[in-house]
Amino acid sequence: MSESVVSPPADAVGRVSTAPGFFVCFEGGDGAGKSTQVRLLTQALESDGRDVLVTRQPGGTELGTAIRQLVLHGNHVSPRAEALLFAADKAHHVDELIRPALAAGQIVITDRYTDSSIAYQGAGRDLGADEIRVLQRWAVSGVLPDLTVVLDVTPQLGRARRGEQPDRLEAEADAFHEAVRQGFVDLAAREPDRYLVIDAGRPTDQIHAIVRARVERALAVAR
Ligand code: TYD
Repeated sequence: MSESVVSPPADAVGRVSTAPGFFVCFEGGDGAGKSTQVRLLTQALESDGRDVLVTRQPGGTELGTAIRQLVLHGNHVSPRAEALLFAADKAHHVDELIRPALAAGQIVITDRYTDSSIAYQGAGRDLGADEIRVLQRWAVSGVLPDLTVVLDVTPQLGRARRGEQPDRLEAEADAFHEAVRQGFVDLAAREPDRYLVIDAGRPTDQIHAIVRARVERALAVAR
């Protein structure tokens, strides 16, 4: 990895290095327990004195919050418009928050990133994982996580854990959520060195311990 996170290549063909920061992403179906694991990892790293930026997609910026409202809580959005809105959120998010934080040496932890779109819009909406991957890579100009943790949740467990008022995506049928789940698993299988897949049905503290150990190992290698 020769490029710097400060100067992304215009065409974003390769993967941009996130050094001197470190970029961790949590992915998984709805109800996988990502937010809890994001919080536990953040607390652990901060109590070690590390400088952490926590964010989530969609959202995290003013524009992102507006996009989140439109795409999750509005009326019908056509699948391609949905894919473009999620891509727009990430493009803005990377420019405004993620790239500057990584350039400043922070550890960035995000609740969802490009893989959510590849799984939800590519596999779930059936727009094609490869096309959505190209769109997302372009949107984030090649800034990809050093480590992606996939919390693998079955549609049944995910549904049991979700709130009473599902958003537009959560309200989809089990077949959609099963396609999303397979989408994440397929992504992880392509790049096992950059992914950690954990059964989301395991106890919270066990999942945290596994994540923590893997992040510490990755940080030791990266620094
Ligand atoms: P999330 O923030 O996990 O929801 P909650 O606030 O209820 O925990 O995710 C929001 C939803 O958006 C989720 O159903 C997945 C979906 N999503 C996509 O479809 N594509 C994307 O690119 C992203 C980031 C999220």
